Amino acid sequence: MNIRSIQQQINAVAVTEGAGVSVHRSLGTAALKNLDPFLMLDHFGSDDPEQYIAGFPDHPHRGFITLTYMLDGHMEHRDSMGNRGDLRAGGVQWMKAASGVIHSEMPQQSNGLMRGFQLWINLPAAEKMSDPAYQEFAAEAIPEVAEAGVKVRLLAGEYGGQRGVIDDPHTDLLYLDVALQPNAVFAAPLAAEKRGFIYVYAGDAQVEVNSRAQTLSGHSFNLLGAGDQVQLTAGSEGARLILVAGRPIGESIVQYGPFVMNSREEVEQAMRDYRDGSLVRARAEVKTEASQAG
Ligand code: CO
Repeated sequence: MNIRSIQQQINAVAVTEGAGVSVHRSLGTAALKNLDPFLMLDHFGSDDPEQYIAGFPDHPHRGFITLTYMLDGHMEHRDSMGNRGDLRAGGVQWMKAASGVIHSEMPQQSNGLMRGFQLWINLPAAEKMSDPAYQEFAAEAIPEVAEAGVKVRLLAGEYGGQRGVIDDPHTDLLYLDVALQPNAVFAAPLAAEKRGFIYVYAGDAQVEVNSRAQTLSGHSFNLLGAGDQVQLTAGSEGARLILVAGRPIGESIVQYGPFVMNSREEVEQAMRDYRDGSLVRARAEVKTEASQAG
């Protein structure tokens, strides 16, 4: 067993997105442009409606997946293919934009706390122009594993003999939301070939490898080093964090805003398609709790 140390720490920076929403961006900044297979991580969190009320009106995506996890608040997703999604506290949405989606993500509240994460996950070349797909799950559908001082919600991947709700076949995604009591210890196996990170959104935690302790403070993005095990200890106030990992794709990444392709020509094509109104090619296949149950 080889515990992963923290290879790089990034403090999130405040940026303005959409029509004027304030978010904390860590991955996808000058400090770390991407972490194959991940392209960007935004943490949004505010109880000031001025910071989120404008939302994210219609905008395009091509060539990757957006994964939105709501901690608090309520957002409505609508896309160019007629899908409508209700994102509420504790719920998760996986949208494979692939060949092209135009969508909006708008707050359904005029006060109170709005908090969550949006992660961009790259797609391999063979999937970039495939048909879009969509998965959405409410809080009640997400499995939880509770042990001494540790509560883990499984959005994707395996932990403690359970399996998360999101099925991401392209990168074998692991996405855990971990809540730790003060000084509680959390450990999880993480296959050596996967790359991953820990983002702490409340409290703090420590990783200790070979008697060297590293502190993971609030609003920090922590890139995991080599190894096959994640192990950390919460600080005296406890900690809340996400642990995310996936298999690298190993292809060239050419990004221009919401278009992420393998070459400049493909990005230029995406921009032309968007201008011409031909970005959206196929209706997304929708997979929700209802369709799974039926
Ligand atoms: Co979007």
